[in-house]
Parts: sequence; structure tokens; C-alpha cells
Amino acid sequence: MEGVTLGPVLFTAEAIAARVRAVAEQINRDYLSREDPGKDVVLVSVLKGGFIFLADLVRCLEIPVVVDFLAISGYGDRGTSEGVRILKDLSEGIGGKDVLVVEDIVDTGLTLSYILRNLEARGPDSLRVCTFLDRAVKRIVPVEVRYRCFEVGEDFVVGYGLDYNQKWRNLPQVHLLRGR
Ligand code: IMP
Ligand code: MG
Repeated sequence: MEGVTLGPVLFTAEAIAARVRAVAEQINRDYLSREDPGKDVVLVSVLKGGFIFLADLVRCLEIPVVVDFLAISGYGDRGTSEGVRILKDLSEGIGGKDVLVVEDIVDTGLTLSYILRNLEARGPDSLRVCTFLDRAVKRIVPVEVRYRCFEVGEDFVVGYGLDYNQKWRNLPQVHLLRGR
């Protein structure tokens, strides 16, 4: 922990804004071409990391949306999703709804695969994933990511909602870390 400092910027605030707008346009197009384009889309944000991406994304969406939040405990052993638990559940049911899970980063995919299995069991009409960052090189469990802003490599990143020991979520740009 000591000696870990902020490293260089990986994605500037401007680059992030441009990608968020582009992904939002993709989502607008896809959901406006549904059989019932006026049906609410439930955006499920996974706390805490997803809150900044969600806030920016929703303001670029032109489809009817409602937002809900889910909090998950981290998994114990890497390589399994054993020990993953829901700490805060959704406040509304999602049966028959079009659900879009909004994530900060999909890394191993363990957290997300648990979330998807859990939400799928509630009988949504559709269930898709939108992530700010996708680290496909570290994937252990395959998960279908429909929308992504950026692909990243192995190096840990912070900012724009992502933390290191709960710090640096507030940075408007994404940084690499030094000394980790
Ligand atoms: P996964 O279950 O391995 O896909 O990882 C899930 C969670 O780990 C993410 O939602 C983040 O909260 C956290 N995480 C993974 N990589 C990073 C990173 O580079 N920076 C900050 N948090 C990360
Ligand atoms: Mg997360």
C-alpha cells in the first residue's frame, strides 16, 4: 500500500466523454429498434465502481430508463465465484423488463457471471452488459459484454469510479498506478 502513487493518464476526460457518447448512441439505436421502443430499460449499476459511468451514460441516453443499484461482496478465492453475495439488492423486480447491467470493469468475469446468473433467474425479457472497461486478457469465466468503452491490458487502473483501496474514484480521467 505504501509507495503506491498515481501513474500516467491512460484515458483523458475528453477521450472518455467521446467514448461514452458513442456507446450511448449505440444503445439508443439498439433499444429504439425494439418491438416496443417505449418500454423502460432498467439500468442496473453495480456499486460502487459503476456510479460515475452510470451518471454520464444516462445523460446521453434518449430511451426511457429507470436506474437501480446492486452491491456485491468480493469473492474469496480467485478462480471461483464462491463467497460472492448480494449486499444490497435491487429495489424493484425485473421480471419482463429489459435490463442493462452497467459495470466499471469486467476483469476475471467472476463477479459479473454471478450477477448475470442471479438476475437471469428473475425472468427479465432481455439482459445485456455495458462496461466502461473490459480487461479480456484476464477473463476466467466467459461473459457476453455487449457494450464497452475501452479495452485495457493487465495493469491496474484507477479513476472515473475505479479505486485502489477506496481511493481515487473521483479522478475525472483514468490513470495507471506506480509502485504496485
Ligand atoms: P472481476 O470479478 O474479476 O471481473 O472484477 C470485478 C471487480 O474488480 C471490478 O468490478 C472492480 O471493482 C475490481 N477491479 C478489477 N480490476 C480493477 C482495476 O484495474 N482497478 C480498479 N478496480 C478493479
Ligand atoms: Mg465493480
